[in-house]
Amino acid sequence: MGLADIPLADLMCRAAERHVLVPAFNVAHLPMVEPIIAAVAELRTFALVEVARPDIEKFGAKSFAAVAEEYRRLADRDVTRLHLDHVPVIDEDGQQVDWRRLIGEALDLGYDSVMIDGSRLPLDENIAATKVVAEMAHPLGRPVEAELGAVLGHEAGPLPPYEELFASGKGFTDPGEAKRFVEESSCDWLSVAVGNIHGAISEAGRDKAKVQARLNLDHLRKLREVTGVPMVLHGGSGIQAEYLRAATQEGIAKINVGTEIRQAYERKLAETDDVAQAQEAVADSMRTLIVETYRTEGSADRLAD
Ligand code: 13P
Repeated sequence: MGLADIPLADLMCRAAERHVLVPAFNVAHLPMVEPIIAAVAELRTFALVEVARPDIEKFGAKSFAAVAEEYRRLADRDVTRLHLDHVPVIDEDGQQVDWRRLIGEALDLGYDSVMIDGSRLPLDENIAATKVVAEMAHPLGRPVEAELGAVLGHEAGPLPPYEELFASGKGFTDPGEAKRFVEESSCDWLSVAVGNIHGAISEAGRDKAKVQARLNLDHLRKLREVTGVPMVLHGGSGIQAEYLRAATQEGIAKINVGTEIRQAYERKLAETDDVAQAQEAVADSMRTLIVETYRTEGSADRLAD
């Protein structure tokens, strides 16, 4: 049986219980929707197609409506859903965002799930914003992702050296806060910081190779014990495979991947000036990720009854 009729919230809970990793691929340029859907259908991997504000404003995804339209034109609902990634309350440039309007727009456009990112807020305000979004999305049967902790990397300016950041645990999601957050915010999935960082999106950094991040698995285990909801890793590009596999055993059910497939697209386009070849480069990089790194080939069958 296919997965098309199973609610996404149920599928993600199954993924967490069955230790299946669900990749969520960011659409940084509109023509990427096609190879993303084709590659996951070919490999029968259950995956999310996702778009975030920076994909629209800093890259070439055009608009939430354009991505939704392209998704609907091509979608294979047995292996995909459409997710709205990162709507921040305060963005990476320190600007206030009209998050209620953006989330409302995406829900009207039929996005299957949405993310509110209040991670730059104090805990109480993050809980309050997430609750508002849950009240908007849950009556429509759409799950809500939220974030607690600091997944750095989207901000302009240099990061501290990675190993220093990792060793200090600076910005890691606090287990006590995570427990309270999940109890009070009504979020369905929680994005956590345990050593993962975003690929750069500033003009200066966006073409650079990304650090090969590690994950603090002991810390993740503590989060798993207190949260009880599927957890999400942002900054998926470049995380070392052995850590990813272990993280899938410790409650990580979703991984967001942007930089790796965006750079594959942009490099090939710069080299050939041919969108079809750039699309094929996206599919190629996804095949490697799905088969070798995530080992999620056939995961749609593993999530079926
Ligand atoms: P990367 O660009 O580092 O893969 O991160 C993507 C992401 O987390 C989008 O939310």
